[in-house]
Amino acid sequence: MSNPASPPAVDVLDERPGLTFPPGFLWGAATAAYQIEGAAAVDGRAPSIWDTFSHTEGRVVAGHTGDVACDHYHRLGDDVALMAELGLKSYRFSVSWSRVQPTGTGAANPGGLDFYRRLVDELLANGIEPWLTLYHWDLPQPLEDAGGWPARDTAARFADYTTLVADALGDRVRYWTTLNEPWCSAFLGYGSGVHAPGRTNGADAVRAGHHLMLGHGLAVQALRAARPAAEVGVTVNLYPVDPASDSPADRDAARRIDGLANRFFLDPLLRGSYPEDLVADLSTVTDFEHVRDGDLATISTPLDLVGVNYYSRHVVAAPVEGVEADPAPSCWPGSEDVRFVTRGVPVTDMGWEIDAPGLTETLRRVNGYTDLPLYVTENGSAFVDSVVDGQVDDVDRLAYFDAHLRAAHEAIDAGVPLRGYFAWSLMDNFEWAWGYTKRFGMIHVDYDSQVRTPKSSAKWYASVIRRNGLAAQ
Ligand code: FCB
Repeated sequence: MSNPASPPAVDVLDERPGLTFPPGFLWGAATAAYQIEGAAAVDGRAPSIWDTFSHTEGRVVAGHTGDVACDHYHRLGDDVALMAELGLKSYRFSVSWSRVQPTGTGAANPGGLDFYRRLVDELLANGIEPWLTLYHWDLPQPLEDAGGWPARDTAARFADYTTLVADALGDRVRYWTTLNEPWCSAFLGYGSGVHAPGRTNGADAVRAGHHLMLGHGLAVQALRAARPAAEVGVTVNLYPVDPASDSPADRDAARRIDGLANRFFLDPLLRGSYPEDLVADLSTVTDFEHVRDGDLATISTPLDLVGVNYYSRHVVAAPVEGVEADPAPSCWPGSEDVRFVTRGVPVTDMGWEIDAPGLTETLRRVNGYTDLPLYVTENGSAFVDSVVDGQVDDVDRLAYFDAHLRAAHEAIDAGVPLRGYFAWSLMDNFEWAWGYTKRFGMIHVDYDSQVRTPKSSAKWYASVIRRNGLAAQ
């Protein structure tokens, strides 16, 4: 029996204090070109690997494609008006390389650049800071045909494209992210093949990862040359990786997955070297002969900021002896037999475990690598939403944001120079291999009518931005 004199424990836990963020904290929301724009064949745009992939049978749930998506290309004005209503201080979007440079080489396509000029001007007119990501997974198909990211030349092509965008938009855009989540481009795109271009070769995935980072370094240099005042960074997706038990075998499994998921990128980008244990783990996959002298210096070209995308934590265990690894192509080359363990904690509609303290841990970890300002460039959750009487009361998503913002604030309290937070996503959109079946938006999109309906989380986020923090609960 509980003691009637003390309140039930759950109420105590639910009493959360109000929190104020530092002055000037950059409150934003994020999207990506292929996920929202549509207008796939308009004004000179040509196919990217995601057009090809989504049009290939069996690749995306229900055969969904980004052909129309949220039709943002034609609704830019209305969409920016919605952002202004939310009070966003910044909007993180990506540029479609295939729109700006349809073959991946040569001169810019003026029609494509015009769209981004209009978008940036509209944002600025509404007092919203544009935050431009150069590459959110949509390589022009001709560059994939020429070898894709496993081919070294793609890195040089990325730098050329960067110069085109910097020349056109650099007078108006202050914040730049080169790559979004190179782990996904490399290991889902070329390892497990669940993302475009759908290739499945571990050595190619490792080469792709290297060339993505090389392209990043070259792009940083191209941006600095074209726009010395630009604030330049990269966005990585990071996960705390815990062993399922304290056994040496489980701890070793965690070390391996942490190497592939996190240190594969953090160490070259921020320290200029690959971790030795990672290179050893990958020795059955690749001899790293693709790494040339000077690459790591290019990759670690100094940055102005680091973007962190955070969604969940991985818990892993050693392989069980006698049990074969899943024969499906893996995104963990050399460590295919490591087991991913679920802990039975609440999950989102993606099946991703909800773990807000993991955000604090992740931000503190990156701060251990660098003193640079950090930004959460994505954080959010998919849940099944229903529209009732024109309202979407997405309490689960709202609670997810609330918990993660508290975790972000804890990192600030611990001294992490966290300068901003971007909710993923502004609106429901094409969730890659899941098509339109997973909703991450603060704004609901009816894909038949293209009607936008701000959900409860959007209204709540607007109040967070207004008070620069969270109300007590
Ligand atoms: C991230 C991607 C983003 C979106 C979210 C849910 O990995 O960067 O485009 O798909 O996950």
